[in-house]
Formats: sequence, structure tokens, C-alpha cells
Amino acid sequence: MTAFEFFQRVSKVHMALVEVHEFSASGWSAPDVQGRARWYCERLEEGAILLFPQPPFLLPESDRSFLLNVRQTASTVHKNIAYKPDRDRVQGFTRGSADGEALRRIMRSYSQAVADFLADFLLPYARRWRLDFASYRPIEEEGRTLPIQKRNDLLHVDSFPTRPSNGHRILRVFTNLNPERSRVWLTGEPFDALVRQYGKEAGLEQLRAKACSPARALFRHVIRLARAAGIPLVDRPLYDEFMLGFHHYLKSNQKFQEGGRQSKWEFPPMSTWMVFTDMVPHAALSGQYALEQTFIIFREALLEPPKAPYRVLEELAGVSVVD
Ligand SMILES: [Fe+2]
Repeated sequence: MTAFEFFQRVSKVHMALVEVHEFSASGWSAPDVQGRARWYCERLEEGAILLFPQPPFLLPESDRSFLLNVRQTASTVHKNIAYKPDRDRVQGFTRGSADGEALRRIMRSYSQAVADFLADFLLPYARRWRLDFASYRPIEEEGRTLPIQKRNDLLHVDSFPTRPSNGHRILRVFTNLNPERSRVWLTGEPFDALVRQYGKEAGLEQLRAKACSPARALFRHVIRLARAAGIPLVDRPLYDEFMLGFHHYLKSNQKFQEGGRQSKWEFPPMSTWMVFTDMVPHAALSGQYALEQTFIIFREALLEPPKAPYRVLEELAGVSVVD
């Protein structure tokens, strides 16, 4: 059975994993590149995970071995080692465990390599994104002690507290650098099914009232004035307000964590995978040493907009949730 047939068979009932064998670090090997690129974007927008057996971008062996020796700070302020491309800055590593300048160079080069790869692979999205943070995750996920809202081993859809997306999509590309062990994930039913089941309890019905609330409009106006004055407050559109609440709701909902249709995936050493993590609930059960780059894909670039979480919310609430 081909990956396409497999996807067709399972997509009606659940999300799928699609293995990509026609794109590698040396580029496309398919004849109809435009058509194949569109096909992969459509699969992603339906909630599939795309898996590459090897990184589809250049990742030098010397960089990999350097990263395996980098240690993260013990502080829980930083959940991962983060690289911020807009500031060319790395945060969260233990000084002394690695040469900070070398780490910055490696993370910069990794971030650029993934962005170049994605521009060649997902042609309909090419550069129609904001390059968000990259991260390196050297801590074993199994048994990590983190506050509940920061835990990676509980199923959740992504929403960033400090970086509202305004309905633009969160696409994340991961690579398992571990030379010996797989990274193990659990996924659940996609956003539209989840929000239909749990949305009411998570505040879906309040969206309409909030959309029409003069008090909320005034509150956001004050926040914008404060931001203009340099006070670092977060101005959240209705979409992000709901999604952040939904992220917290899902992590603390025992019934959801233990029930529903769930799938377990093992990502082998040196594999790369990508998924819209604002749509596909996911949990990292175990694994150590993963690289990740986040892209905020603009809504305008989507091929199937009605499947986007912001459109699902608007359909259910009957109001606009983005600015
Ligand atoms: Fe996540």
C-alpha cells in the first residue's frame, strides 16, 4: 500500500503519517514538483504528519556531535534551548557546557537550512511565513518535572502565550538527533473534532459575547497604548485568547488525556517530521535531543482555509475571531 492509499484509508477516521521519499537534502526527485508540493500542503492542512527518514536539509555531522554535548540550564524558566532568528540570539544553555558563539552559529545555520528546505518543499507556502523560534531539546522528556501548563507529555494543541498568531498557522519541523533512540509521540483527534466535543466547556460560547463587548474593546485599546509606551503586555486577538485557554483546558482535562482515539508514533534516530501543531493534539512521551524550527504560516497561504482552526471557531461561534 502506498503512503497515499494509506492516507486515504485512514484520513476519514483519523490523522495519518505520510512518509516522504521524493524529497531529500539534494532536493526533489519527483517530476511534477508543483503538484506534489500542493499535495503535501493539503495533507498537512488535513492534520497529517509528514515524515522524512533522514533530514531533508544539510545538517553537518560536526554540528550534531557538538549539540549532543550541550546542556540546558536547570532553571524551568527555559523549557528548551531557544534560538531567536530575528535577534540572532540563543537562550537557555548552561554556560561552560558549550561554546556560546559556536552554539549560536550552529543554531543560526540550522534555522536557515530548515527555512531554505521548506521554501523548496512546500512551494505554495514559500516565504509566506514568519520565521519563529528554533529550539534544541536536550532533556529526556520521560519523567520531566514541569508545571502542568508547560508539560510536553500531556496532549495539547499549541498556542504561544507571548506570541499570538492571530489565526496564522503554527507549523513545526522536528529532527530527532538521538543516535540510538526514537522520539515517541502520542497524537489525538484533530482540532475540529476536539472543539466540537470540548469547546463548550472550554469557553466557546463566550466568544460571541466577547466579540461584541465594548469593555473588551476598551481593554485591548489600553493594552495597545501601553505597548506603544514600551510596556511589554500581550495583545491577544479573540482567536489566541481561546486557543491559549484551550491549551490549558486540554492539559488539565483527565478525561481527554485518557480517552478518545489516540495514536502512538515513534520517530527513529535522525528522522525529521513536520505537522501543524495548532491543529493536531500531540504529546512527547519520551525522547532526548531533538531540534525544532517553528514557522508561522500566513492564513492567506493556506490551500484549504475552512480546515484552519480559526475558521472552525468562526463557523461554530458565528463571529470573527481574528483581527
Ligand atoms: Fe506542543
